[in-house]
Amino acid sequence: MKFPILAYGHPLLRKKARNITPDMPGLQQLIDDMFEAMYESNGVGLAAPQIGKSIRLFVIDAEPFADLDEEMTTAQKEKLKGQKVFINAQILEENGKEWDFTEGCLSIPGINEDVSRREKIKISYYDRNFNHHTEEIDGILARVIQHEYDHLEGILFTDHLSSFKKRLLKRKLTNISKGKVNVNYRMKFASK
Ligand code: NI
Repeated sequence: MKFPILAYGHPLLRKKARNITPDMPGLQQLIDDMFEAMYESNGVGLAAPQIGKSIRLFVIDAEPFADLDEEMTTAQKEKLKGQKVFINAQILEENGKEWDFTEGCLSIPGINEDVSRREKIKISYYDRNFNHHTEEIDGILARVIQHEYDHLEGILFTDHLSSFKKRLLKRKLTNISKGKVNVNYRMKFASK
């Protein structure tokens, strides 16, 4: 994989990402490289800041979740499958009740925790051909989008945890930032 994943503690993960334009050089190649990095690290989503690019771009392929939930309808499963690209995304609304789902992050290996978020979103974005979409999305796909979208705002899923949980995780997070972590994909650490 061409780009290492930035680890927790890297300052770029805390920056608010900027919009891009269709003439950005190398955009299509970058999107392909992001999917490659995501698949090689067994992720279901990857945001550009995680590979050191502070731009509003994230990619998702949530197919692994389709086999996980037995209550899911075929139509819901189909929605999860396939490569999805979100450029200059803006979440316009978040609705419905809050629900817990266990999240993880390629930038925070070895930590998985329940995060509470609203069940539905309305999102405006451009696809990789710069066609504009406004969609209402719910369920697991909404969840993955909310997580990736947070990366564009400099927010990580651990920020959503209770202060008690954060204290419990502090040492693990410090270790990740120092590179003291077992991981089977390439990472870049702020201090090592
Ligand atoms: Ni993440």
